[in-house]
Amino acid sequence: MARITVLGGTGYAGSAIVAEAAARGHEVTSLSRSPPSQPIPGVRYVQGDVADVEALARVIEGTEVVVSALAPRGPLAAPFREVSRAVARLTAAAGARLYLVGGFSSLRPAPGADRYVSDLSGVPAALHPEITQGAAVVIEDLPSAPEALDWVFVSPAAAFGAYQPGERLGRYRLGDDVAVQPDGGAISAPDYALGFLDLIEAGDRHRAHVNLGNSRAPRLVTTDLP
Ligand SMILES: NC(=O)c1ccc[n+]([C@@H]2O[C@H](COP(=O)([O-])OP(=O)(O)OC[C@H]3O[C@@H](n4cnc5c(N)ncnc54)[C@H](OP(=O)(O)O)[C@@H]3O)[C@@H](O)[C@H]2O)c1
Repeated sequence: MARITVLGGTGYAGSAIVAEAAARGHEVTSLSRSPPSQPIPGVRYVQGDVADVEALARVIEGTEVVVSALAPRGPLAAPFREVSRAVARLTAAAGARLYLVGGFSSLRPAPGADRYVSDLSGVPAALHPEITQGAAVVIEDLPSAPEALDWVFVSPAAAFGAYQPGERLGRYRLGDDVAVQPDGGAISAPDYALGFLDLIEAGDRHRAHVNLGNSRAPRLVTTDLP
């Protein structure tokens, strides 16, 4: 069993990862500013701000796996990449592995094709900052991080998020940086967490961008697509 720290462990993606990790018997710590609405027994919930490097260092120290389930939204939008770099630096210093919850738009529709993020003309402008900030982490920041950092960036299918929670099917499809469902697909938080924990436990991906898809999207809300 591993010691796993989930940054943003009370959010949409983070709470599902915390639940799956705890159910598998891992020792889980979650960091967020607010307490969880439905705490999971056995999970250590720490309240703090990731922009506070000392608070970040305290929850990362001694852990084996760091999960970043933070989102480039609200007050975290502007400092998101800087916070991500601090997370990467502290994770490497702790000798831990870093797994990040990413976005769909950093994927490619086909091998060798441009990533979706290179053409956001069909996506509402309000979502562009979140999409580009998140994608820059896997396109620019992680590949240029020191070799000591072992990272895996896990993009979900296009239809993923609190606006479309979905049910647990108990399965998923895993791909590299080419979308397993290029024409629109969905994955629920519990199925994404299933694949996410399988990746952590296998530990066989290193400095890699992967994606998890599942079913056809029952209802694709294009205006909400991050
Ligand atoms: N289809 C897609 O591509 C898609 C869809 C949805 C999400 N995503 C990606 O998935 C990731 C997670 O998104 P999400 O929807 O799960 O986010 P979310 O529900 O908003 O959760 C964010 C988490 O981070 C915590 N947090 C926010 N600011 C913090 C701070 N300053 N210090 C400490 N904790 C903080 C929040 O708790 P507090 O507010 O209490 O601090 C919460 O636990 C993002 O990278 C997002 O882009 C992708």
